[in-house]
Amino acid sequence: MAMAFGGQGPNSQKGHRPVLLRETIELLAAKRGGWFVDCTVGLGGHSEAILQASSDAQVLGIDRDEEALELARQRLALYGSRFRAVHADFRELTRVLATAKVRQVHGVLADLGVSSLQLDSPSRGFSFRHEAPLDMRMDMSRGETAAELLGRLSEVEIARIIFEYGEERRARRIARWIVERRERGELIQTTRDLAELVARAVGPDKKRRIHPATRTFQALRIAVNAELENLDRFISEAVDQLEPDGRLAVISFHSLEDRIVKRTLLKLSGRCQCPPRLPKCLCGATKAVEILTRRPLVPNEAEIESNPRARSARLRSARKI
Ligand SMILES: C[S@@+](CC[C@H](N)C(=O)[O-])C[C@H]1O[C@@H](n2cnc3c(N)ncnc32)[C@H](O)[C@@H]1O
Repeated sequence: MAMAFGGQGPNSQKGHRPVLLRETIELLAAKRGGWFVDCTVGLGGHSEAILQASSDAQVLGIDRDEEALELARQRLALYGSRFRAVHADFRELTRVLATAKVRQVHGVLADLGVSSLQLDSPSRGFSFRHEAPLDMRMDMSRGETAAELLGRLSEVEIARIIFEYGEERRARRIARWIVERRERGELIQTTRDLAELVARAVGPDKKRRIHPATRTFQALRIAVNAELENLDRFISEAVDQLEPDGRLAVISFHSLEDRIVKRTLLKLSGRCQCPPRLPKCLCGATKAVEILTRRPLVPNEAEIESNPRARSARLRSARKI
């Protein structure tokens, strides 16, 4: 049964504003009810809107951040057994669904990247705005912190990460400063250590008036959380889990991420992604989905004005055939 949805009910958390909410709920066809998997439940904004779209909708919410998951659990407790939370990496989707005995999935959502809760947390080390240990792990129960990564990688590897994931022109100079400091026996341990080092290495960003360390912080976060790794495989597995006419919606915030989503969906729609000179297709393109968004949906001016973090969001969606 369809219900009115607002997505910001009485129990909503103020910490994170779900982006492209109405568009996502429509593309997921959440009104039809059934099982939905929110692979990045965060503070539960999108999950709540799915649960509100139909009283027949059930959501399995996955997140690798236990702190966020606990807040989502509290927020969505009023939906009883219609919401279940699982602490996992969404790249383990197939295993998670088998363990939870969820079959016949009507929709899968992935709202990639970090939440405002993580960015604004004064202790997690995602932002140069707060003095904190340089951690940046979404899942604090495992993996290497950003400080450990900077202590281990070579200058070339650090430069590559900052250049590729941060699109930072002065990546080589920043990497050199990091390694020189390390060689002097001074480890980079806090957000302030890194922000000050980058600011001194490159000077102020006069053109874009952003903090000079913005791109370096973004790059490190992507590397620490391996955000681009196996994203293509996750999308294919998500499509495998959908029942016919089921929907997939992916929101990305970075051009590299969006490119992977776009290419994987094209491949799954049967469009070969091999270089044109190859005599035969080697990418394994097969027609499993119909793409619902020829171009990605982006937030309108009003959404960007009320939530500037939505600015770079891109929503792509497909329907399982
Ligand atoms: C942009 S937020 C999602 C916000 C959510 N849609 C809401 O409305 O509150 C992204 C969330 O995805 C989680 N996340 C990112 N990569 C993940 C992964 N590989 N597996 C599981 N969770 C992940 C992050 O911890 C974060 O909580």
